[in-house]
Amino acid sequence: VATKSIPNLIEPPDGPHPLNLHALYGRQAPLVVDLGCGKGRFLAARALRNPEWDFLGTDLQLVRVRKSAGKLHRQGVANARLLRADNRRVLEILLPPASVHACYLFFPDPWPKRRHHKRRQFGPDFPDALHRVLAPRGVFQTATDHADYFAVMRKLLDGDPRFDPAEPDVPADEERTEFEALFLGQGLPIARGAWRRR
Ligand SMILES: C[S@@+](CC[C@H](N)C(=O)[O-])C[C@H]1O[C@@H](n2cnc3c(N)ncnc32)[C@H](O)[C@@H]1O
Repeated sequence: VATKSIPNLIEPPDGPHPLNLHALYGRQAPLVVDLGCGKGRFLAARALRNPEWDFLGTDLQLVRVRKSAGKLHRQGVANARLLRADNRRVLEILLPPASVHACYLFFPDPWPKRRHHKRRQFGPDFPDALHRVLAPRGVFQTATDHADYFAVMRKLLDGDPRFDPAEPDVPADEERTEFEALFLGQGLPIARGAWRRR
């Protein structure tokens, strides 16, 4: 159900129920999810270029999903929806099993202090949740400016027999997320990784 005032911003269902994707998009198409989509630059640009796919952007912050929804509206993007939710709930409950063809996690907050690592999006449970939602041969794509965080992700996924390394997706200029633009502007190196569900 879209909220009355903001088109494409949907209310997550209560309780242990997954989203009804068919009802959400009014069709059946491959699903792309952008976890922690921020202000939605990648989501809007990629969805506009790929009208045959359905897109879902998620973020914990209402102000960010509102900004993203505004972007979709202004750009006339019809095949994307926004959801304000915690990604843990998105991956463990809201997305139906084996429903995602591509899952993006761009520039997740690195929480560099060791005592804060438990707050990271990508923790030890992430591969299980990812495996649950990815369709067979579905791909996970990530990018970060934080080399240590990237090393943690790579170690976990390279060592997981349920995933194969894949070719990282380099966004076109107009698809670059706000954080990527920020880090590129500072001349920081960006690590990219991709893994495909076997
Ligand atoms: C550093 S920003 C990156 C935003 C965007 N992906 C980009 O590259 O510009 C991290 C984003 O993840 C969101 N976020 C952090 N923890 C989250 C969680 N548990 N569930 C959903 N979103 C979360 C934040 O609100 C923020 O928008």
